[in-house]
Amino acid sequence: MKLEIIKFDNLGRGIAYVDDKIVFVPKAIPGDIVTVVRKREKKNFLECEIKEIIKPSKLRKEVICPYFSLCGGCDLMQISTSEKLEFKLNLVNELLHKNKIDFVVKDIIKNNKEYNYRNKITLKIVDGLIGYYENLSHKLVPIDYCYLVTDEINNVLKEIKRLNIQNGEVTIRCNYKNELLIIINTLDKIASYDYLIDNFLIAGIIVNDECLYGDDYFIEKINDYVFKVSYNSFFQVNPFICGKLFNYISNYTSDSKNVLDLYCGVGTLSIVANHDYLLGVEIVDNAIKDANLNKNFNLKKNIDFICSDTKNVIDKITSKFDTIILDPPRSGVDEKVLNKIKEVNIKKIIYVSCNPLTLVRDLTLLKNNYRIEDFMLLDMFPNTHHVESLVVLNIMNKGKIKKEQIIDIVNKTI
Ligand SMILES: C[S@@+](CC[C@H](N)C(=O)[O-])C[C@H]1O[C@@H](n2cnc3c(N)ncnc32)[C@H](O)[C@@H]1O
Repeated sequence: MKLEIIKFDNLGRGIAYVDDKIVFVPKAIPGDIVTVVRKREKKNFLECEIKEIIKPSKLRKEVICPYFSLCGGCDLMQISTSEKLEFKLNLVNELLHKNKIDFVVKDIIKNNKEYNYRNKITLKIVDGLIGYYENLSHKLVPIDYCYLVTDEINNVLKEIKRLNIQNGEVTIRCNYKNELLIIINTLDKIASYDYLIDNFLIAGIIVNDECLYGDDYFIEKINDYVFKVSYNSFFQVNPFICGKLFNYISNYTSDSKNVLDLYCGVGTLSIVANHDYLLGVEIVDNAIKDANLNKNFNLKKNIDFICSDTKNVIDKITSKFDTIILDPPRSGVDEKVLNKIKEVNIKKIIYVSCNPLTLVRDLTLLKNNYRIEDFMLLDMFPNTHHVESLVVLNIMNKGKIKKEQIIDIVNKTI
């Protein structure tokens, strides 16, 4: 089937239309004329794979990664940096516009590197081969290099096959000193890891949640803050943009007194936020243990952390807090949590999000009670359609009429 790609969808896929049916084509871009192979068909849409690019879009640029056309690891390497940034800006502004949220985001904070910025990779191992899954399938694309991750991760990645794992999953994480944590899940017996510890800076090797070598954590440093990060605790994948995020959090909490940090992870934003008192909530037990150590490492006082699902601590959301930080996973914030925030009239919300779709869904729920003061986009994930957002919301003072409104009413009645 031959198609002309009209525009991008929210996931960075090319869109075409055939007989009123919408067709999604990963890796295709507006202006491409392509032939495609059907992969999945539903009532209203089709998902296809590029077979041949008959006429490339003017926006296309050469891709440096040999795996790009098949690999599901990234999706926007085929356009220029400025087009990638524009895609992200347009995506967020269109979502805001469609949901009648009156704000236009003007700019996006750029990353310092186009490639090799990520400090973490997770790959599948199938029949002894390591790689990402193909787009739209569970077929492995074996790789021995990924342009998204740091050189140190790539160097050790080439040697993981020495462990002789046939099937499973490997995650490699890297810190500011280029120390590596290797985390494996497999039913296979792993071979000797001596080569890895003799040739790389290995902080730890963890197999099926058991630490076989070194530590089950590493120490990460961002700006002047130091964090213990357990092997299964969340940490931002882009240290440069994470540093920028910290600066914004510090600025936007400059007048905050009592702060609630839901989804606090290892306590990063809790520690960076200005406060007289702060309460952090996080669901992963190891992350909360890290957070309690991290507040001491960073000499921070008056912080408590609770290990819980946020929706089980709704009663902790009270008017005692003037600021709430929300940094949820991709699924966004639970509706009950948002309703409670509105009910108790918390003055300021700082919402950090890695998924504009759930972010805008949640902002729609808040829009009658909160006004957007600032909306920043940060290019945390170059070469992918993903983007990080930081939104600052202030409560609207519905009861009070502004002086200008009174003058307006008086003028109209005279
Ligand atoms: C995007 S991360 C943010 C972590 C932290 N703010 C940071 O910047 O490092 C989201 C965090 O929410 C936690 N989480 C996910 N679902 C949760 C829930 N229902 N209740 C509490 N925490 C949750 C995850 O374990 C993860 O640590």
